[in-house]
Amino acid sequence: LLADGWVLRNKIVWAKTNPVPTSVRDRLACTWEAIYVLTRQPSYFFDLDAVRIPHRSQPPKRHGVPHAQPELWRGPNGDGARGLDIIKAAGRVGHPLGKNPGDVWHIASSSYRGAHHATFPVGLAQRAIQAGCPERRCASCRLPWRRTAQRLGQIATRGGLWAGCDCDTGAEPGIVLDPFFGAGSTAIAAESLGRDWLGIELKADFARLAWARITEQRTARKSTNQAQPKAA
Ligand SMILES: C[S@@+](CC[C@H](N)C(=O)[O-])C[C@H]1O[C@@H](n2cnc3c(N)ncnc32)[C@H](O)[C@@H]1O
Repeated sequence: LLADGWVLRNKIVWAKTNPVPTSVRDRLACTWEAIYVLTRQPSYFFDLDAVRIPHRSQPPKRHGVPHAQPELWRGPNGDGARGLDIIKAAGRVGHPLGKNPGDVWHIASSSYRGAHHATFPVGLAQRAIQAGCPERRCASCRLPWRRTAQRLGQIATRGGLWAGCDCDTGAEPGIVLDPFFGAGSTAIAAESLGRDWLGIELKADFARLAWARITEQRTARKSTNQAQPKAA
């Protein structure tokens, strides 16, 4: 892919919190997979604010009792527990929308009703879509729309979407392509986030399975929406 001009921007470790038990005795169990973030050009859409996570600065605990100092065995590059304390002492504050989630994602693996065993979790696809696919884009020039971040002192919220162009021809949802569609987890995630999607799947049985799953999700969403009280 790199030889074809793709730019590698991240290698994410998907650390499975529920790895499949293994009976192997001569090696360690495989508990993670790599996710490569590749772009077509050095400048690209990336919505970090959509995937920020809450700041946490918890001192390490032993037997439920917090340590005042990290243990020496952690070494100079060990996982410090004083991140926010250091930032605070320097008079700086963390980003009010939360911190960068980093490139190790702890997410449980899943399968779809046992019918497709290599599905990835919808939550994993959702995080990738939120960061990498615009909510809206210009229907004419396709430039992504973006959200403003509004700060009120130490509090921040995400503001409304605004167009990145002057076309004034209206917007359409961003679109996600999964060329290895499987049981359609990408489509489930995309629809839950209001994005459009395209899927390519080699096996007709899996394509049918995915379509049944998507239809089921749409029906469930429709009945949930109908059950919601209408705003006056
Ligand atoms: C790991 S699964 C993807 C599962 C999917 N991400 C999900 O969560 O439902 C990979 C899928 O790619 C399909 N596949 C493999 N080679 C393909 C190809 N050349 N073109 C399209 N689909 C392919 C397989 O049949 C399989 O269903």
